[in-house]
Amino acid sequence: MLRAIEETVEYIKRKTENFKPEIGIVLGTGLGGLVKEIQIEHQLMYSNIPNFPISTLEFHSGKLIFGTLSGKKIVAMQGRLHYYEGYTMQQITFPVRVMKGLGIQNLIVSNAAGSLNPEFKRGDLMIIEDHINLQPDNPLRGLIESSLGPRFPDMSEPYKRDIIAKALSIANEVAINCHKGVYVAVSGPNLETKAEYKYLRLIGGDAVGMSTVPEVIVANQAGLPVFAISVLTDEGFPEDLQPFNLDEILAVAAKAEPKMTEILTRLIAEI
Ligand code: HPA
Repeated sequence: MLRAIEETVEYIKRKTENFKPEIGIVLGTGLGGLVKEIQIEHQLMYSNIPNFPISTLEFHSGKLIFGTLSGKKIVAMQGRLHYYEGYTMQQITFPVRVMKGLGIQNLIVSNAAGSLNPEFKRGDLMIIEDHINLQPDNPLRGLIESSLGPRFPDMSEPYKRDIIAKALSIANEVAINCHKGVYVAVSGPNLETKAEYKYLRLIGGDAVGMSTVPEVIVANQAGLPVFAISVLTDEGFPEDLQPFNLDEILAVAAKAEPKMTEILTRLIAEI
């Protein structure tokens, strides 16, 4: 693992003329609009980067983008990996280790998620302030390389409170309604049953999705402060559950995405 990280970091440095990103960004499904705001300097296809996981169809077009956003040097993952695609947890989180190796000091993550909280409606944004991990595997399982971070990483503040406060005050300034809540990670790819949505709400979830938590665990082990935000694309309300419709969900994500981009571009200037 260490050798693979080093090799990939060296390759990327060579290909990007030693570009030194300060912030890493993982863009969620249907949430690539932030890329338009980046003054792009370099782009690398995942499929050309050594040790990046072998591509599935969705991942095939994935790109690592290097450039400037709000005056900060950033690296953005356009296209993320999901456990349900068949990758191992260590494959999913490998890019986070590589971004850390490139020198990022903060990680920003976005995703599309289903609302569990009746007050949080489809199309709303939710800043993640904590999570519950229900995925069946852990990216740190089996890893004993102490240079990657502690064996038993602390998770008392997995999402940095001061960054959350900044983001909420930005949302307030620009009059964007933005909730704060607990994200539950499941493996997918099936959606939840009514009974499962009910259960996820009962155990304390405000939103449910199939990503983010593996990357956040690894970032915490690596000592990287994390900020994460969900676009709530559907309502997992058991009282009135509508059949899942992917096109509708992508349409909701596309419509809400500019609000998220506005908050993130302003936030990046401040961290
Ligand atoms: N459940 C799980 N993952 C999701 C959902 C959902 O309702 N919506 C978007 N991703």
